[in-house]
Amino acid sequence: MGFRSRICAAALVAALTLSCAKTRTAANAATSDDRKDLHSFGNPDQVRVTHVDLDLDVRFEQRVLNGSALLTVERAPGFLQGPLILDTRALNIARCECSADSTSFAPCHAEMGKQDPILGSPLRVDLPENARFVRVWYSTSPEASGLQWLTPAQTSSKKYPFLFSQSQAINARSWVPLQDSPGVRVTYGAKIRTPKDLFAVMSAENDPAAPRNGEFSFQLREPIPPYLMAIAVGDIVFRPLTKRTGVFAEREVVDKAASEFADMNRMLEAGEALYGPYRWGRYDVLVLPPSFPFGGMENARLTFATPTILAGDKSLVDTIAHELAHSWSGNLVTNATWRDFWLNEGITTYLSMRIMETVYGPARAEMEGALEKGLLLTELARLPAPDQVLHIDLKDRDPDQDGMTEVPYAKGMLFLRLLEDTFGRERFDPFLRSYFQHFAFQSVTTEDFASFLKSNLFDSDPALARTIPLDQWLYQPGLPADAPKMASSALAKVDALAGQWTSGRILVANLPGRTWTTHEWLEFLRTLPPDIGRERMGELDRTFHLTASTNAEITAEWLKLAVRNRYQPADAKLEQFLTTVGRRKYIDPLYTELVKTPEGRQRANAIFLKARPGYHPLTVEGVQAILNGPART
Ligand code: BES
Ligand code: ZN
Repeated sequence: MGFRSRICAAALVAALTLSCAKTRTAANAATSDDRKDLHSFGNPDQVRVTHVDLDLDVRFEQRVLNGSALLTVERAPGFLQGPLILDTRALNIARCECSADSTSFAPCHAEMGKQDPILGSPLRVDLPENARFVRVWYSTSPEASGLQWLTPAQTSSKKYPFLFSQSQAINARSWVPLQDSPGVRVTYGAKIRTPKDLFAVMSAENDPAAPRNGEFSFQLREPIPPYLMAIAVGDIVFRPLTKRTGVFAEREVVDKAASEFADMNRMLEAGEALYGPYRWGRYDVLVLPPSFPFGGMENARLTFATPTILAGDKSLVDTIAHELAHSWSGNLVTNATWRDFWLNEGITTYLSMRIMETVYGPARAEMEGALEKGLLLTELARLPAPDQVLHIDLKDRDPDQDGMTEVPYAKGMLFLRLLEDTFGRERFDPFLRSYFQHFAFQSVTTEDFASFLKSNLFDSDPALARTIPLDQWLYQPGLPADAPKMASSALAKVDALAGQWTSGRILVANLPGRTWTTHEWLEFLRTLPPDIGRERMGELDRTFHLTASTNAEITAEWLKLAVRNRYQPADAKLEQFLTTVGRRKYIDPLYTELVKTPEGRQRANAIFLKARPGYHPLTVEGVQAILNGPART
């Protein structure tokens, strides 16, 4: 699936030489350093940040946040002395102050360590023994990896600038100095100063009626991992949906978003009925400008979402179900390190299917499950073995560029679905509910999950448990033979029709495309032979107007075929799409397809030159890697 299909060159070389199929087996599954986060310099085992108070100016002219972060810290028993180590990336640190009581502060020495290309730089604060508070005065860099600054021209209003953050996986450190590890939970408060006329929101308690007077205050009382800290500033307005749910968006988009997401409260209720109370108070969604690099991001209390899911017919709202589901799997029970990312995404993908089934019925959930599995099979065919493992080794790799494959999502989902099929919903649903209850507001490793699974589900029925090759699922590459089939009768019909049409047994006019849902169209386009040819592309296009589709998911799929088959009538649409949309799931595969031919590569370079100023820093990094890398077939 899109950007998740990229693999780093090193892994590719390793796969080709067959030298790195090193995976863990039952014998060595649990190690003492499983909890160690390789992607943070922080020393939470000695001194831990527990609360963050931000006081920041949002300076659009300079593209920086400027101010201070006041950190509350706690020493571990036995560590009465020693420094506090924080994560930073491209932050300009002006000075640090320490305090025992948060009223009187004294300067304290702090030193920035050597910069690591993936992790940023550790900031070592010499913490006096009695200090409980550290205030760091700093400003961000205009290139901060976790922030995107948009000019008015890049927004719907065309009048006001826009700022948004994206902290997951390891980008919170580029706008807040803290221990940026999913194993370190913090509560936070913030005072944010903005230009007048703009509105600020955060992943915290938001007051939709706050005056636009240039100063906003926030509070989040539930402890979260830092990757859920988020901010957005722009001409943002609010539409309530129900008492507990609502939509924020730019003024021009908000009504469309409110009608697309009209079922959000039903999704929330479905989630609660299945998995226990929603623990975060309100659930709102913020729709961002089209450069937002993801489909959605489950920031606490306030999901950030791409406008590309506003299809007009609710056909892409599974993204909302997904981000909402993270309120249980991810935000409440969090992966301890990025190795355990599948615990966040696999369980969430499963939960979201259940929520979709409750709200929209089994046929739709089945289609979504089958599509998901289809993407996984395609991806497994080209991923090196180590990247096919749920408990993936990310040492010396960037969790923001690698590891984002279908594996944690779809293989993780299939594993949960296998447990459901094996033990039945009457046992599996209560098991999951108790998992969320037991580990609420904690971070868990793959091993924690496995041992909870054994004692709370497997032990109740050892005979059934023996049918599940647990170690193979968690620690081995590939898809175990007992993986659920994920059948959808609707999609099976589409597959048959695709076969009949491509082999010339039926005419394009006999394809029931006009009645197809988005999901059926996706299946159809993904089932066609990739080299279907210009002729047949033209036939489809003239009959069903695919180049003119306003559904981003269909457009992305169609454009991939268009590039592959050099279908020129879609050239203008391709350029328009790549220069307006920044969602990596769509654009990374299109660039990947383009660079497969010399002419395509030239085009890709030319389009990137135009599009780049509108892309998010992480998108730029990803596209550059594609453009500079070798062509992949
Ligand atoms: N948490 C992820 C997005 C993410 C993961 C951002 C890792 C940065 C690093 C989010 O919940 C997600 O999975 N989004 C998907 C949508 C979903 C329906 C599969 C996306 O953006 O495509
Ligand atoms: Zn997710």
